[in-house]
Amino acid sequence: MPTVTMTVNGKKVSGEVEARTLLVQFLRENLHLTGTHVGCDTSQCGACVVHINGDSAKSCSMLAVQAEGTEVTTIEGLANGDELHPMQAAFKEHHGLQCGFCTPGMVMSAVDLVKKKPKASEHEIREWLEGNICRCTGYHNIVKAIQHAQQTM
Ligand code: FES
Ligand code: FES
Repeated sequence: MPTVTMTVNGKKVSGEVEARTLLVQFLRENLHLTGTHVGCDTSQCGACVVHINGDSAKSCSMLAVQAEGTEVTTIEGLANGDELHPMQAAFKEHHGLQCGFCTPGMVMSAVDLVKKKPKASEHEIREWLEGNICRCTGYHNIVKAIQHAQQTM
């Protein structure tokens, strides 16, 4: 079996994986980082979004071996100790979640948006989130949270 090595949340990790192992499986099953969720098997829901070399990506849509040598950040790597990342704090303050299943992926996508387009309009925020499905919130509070984080990040 191939061995894959990458940096996850600042720590160098490696593991033996089958060639067909998805990155999300490697994160959840080998590294026990279960904050990254799997909500579909069609690459649509965005619950699995992580950052790879600083860009958001669906970790269900790539193989672990494709992440060889990359820097991966998962939802577990966002907070600074007990201090929430400003995007996590904004989701909390604005009730941008209900069941929470979509939330890790939403937060990771939203952080990438605010870094790339700090002044994104409401319309641009909604367009950016088209790859992240939420069945609970109706998106309004998610958008408010992201607008808040545009000020605090
Ligand atoms: S698990 Fe649904 S897009 Fe990755
Ligand atoms: S909060 Fe339940 S799916 Fe988004």
